[in-house]
Amino acid sequence: MAENSVEAAARAIGRARSIVVFSGAGVSRESGIATFRDPEEGIWSKYDPMEMATLEGYVRDPSFVWTWYEHRFGIVVDAEPNLGHRAIAELEELFPTVTVVTQNIDGLHQRAGSTDVIELHGTMHRYACLHRKHVGFKRDDFADQEERPPRCPVCGDLIRPEVVWFGEALPAAELDRAQLRSAACDAMLVVGTSAVVFPAAALPLQAIHSGATVIEVNPEPTALSRQATFSLRGPGGEVLPQLVAALQERRKAPDG
Ligand code: APR
Repeated sequence: MAENSVEAAARAIGRARSIVVFSGAGVSRESGIATFRDPEEGIWSKYDPMEMATLEGYVRDPSFVWTWYEHRFGIVVDAEPNLGHRAIAELEELFPTVTVVTQNIDGLHQRAGSTDVIELHGTMHRYACLHRKHVGFKRDDFADQEERPPRCPVCGDLIRPEVVWFGEALPAAELDRAQLRSAACDAMLVVGTSAVVFPAAALPLQAIHSGATVIEVNPEPTALSRQATFSLRGPGGEVLPQLVAALQERRKAPDG
């Protein structure tokens, strides 16, 4: 059964060399960005994921889906990394290797200062053409086009955000690297995810299977809570700074 104290969790990972932080939408909640499966405010309680987050849905109504992503982009651009993102970035001062593996597309981990971020589900800050043949476009690449959604400057296909939609493969290199890091890490922090969307949700199980200490940070229990070594109940913006403070205390007065 998972313990649930920050001090115990800090003691358990105090000597870790490599840390993976696996994050989901909950880590950005305190930045004002909605999660997906919150019963009241979740994005999927207002929109149909099959309409808004599939290739078929985009092809069916490109302008509606494009406008929705532009709305979400506006929210993210106005958002700031919260204390949880910043605590995660501070882990890099406490451990030799810290890799953030995120399901989020908002780029807030990078803005908070994390330097090694694997974006498993892509990013809303880059664009691709419809079947992701040509990728890595920036918004400036379409500044000269009136049409919305814009067209791929290379092949003329519809442009889309470079995000992974339901039914699409995750970027292979990112997934491979995330799986390797999850199998090799000494500890994994699982922050703000319901851990129900695979293959990403297999990563904490990979870490548990490889003998890593797994610390979940979430105000609610999840499918992972009973298997985690520690399940710390609370918002990331509160719990993560407490965990970092406890780790910094240990650095000052290690108990041998
Ligand atoms: N701090 C930490 N966790 C929080 C907070 C918070 N302040 N607020 C909510 N949470 C938790 C919720 O309890 C929930 O367990 O964050 C989790 C969010 O779960 P989801 O909404 O399912 O988001 P996520 O797990 O990231 O979804 C995975 O599903 O729709 C796809 O591609 C999308 O990447 C997304 C994937």
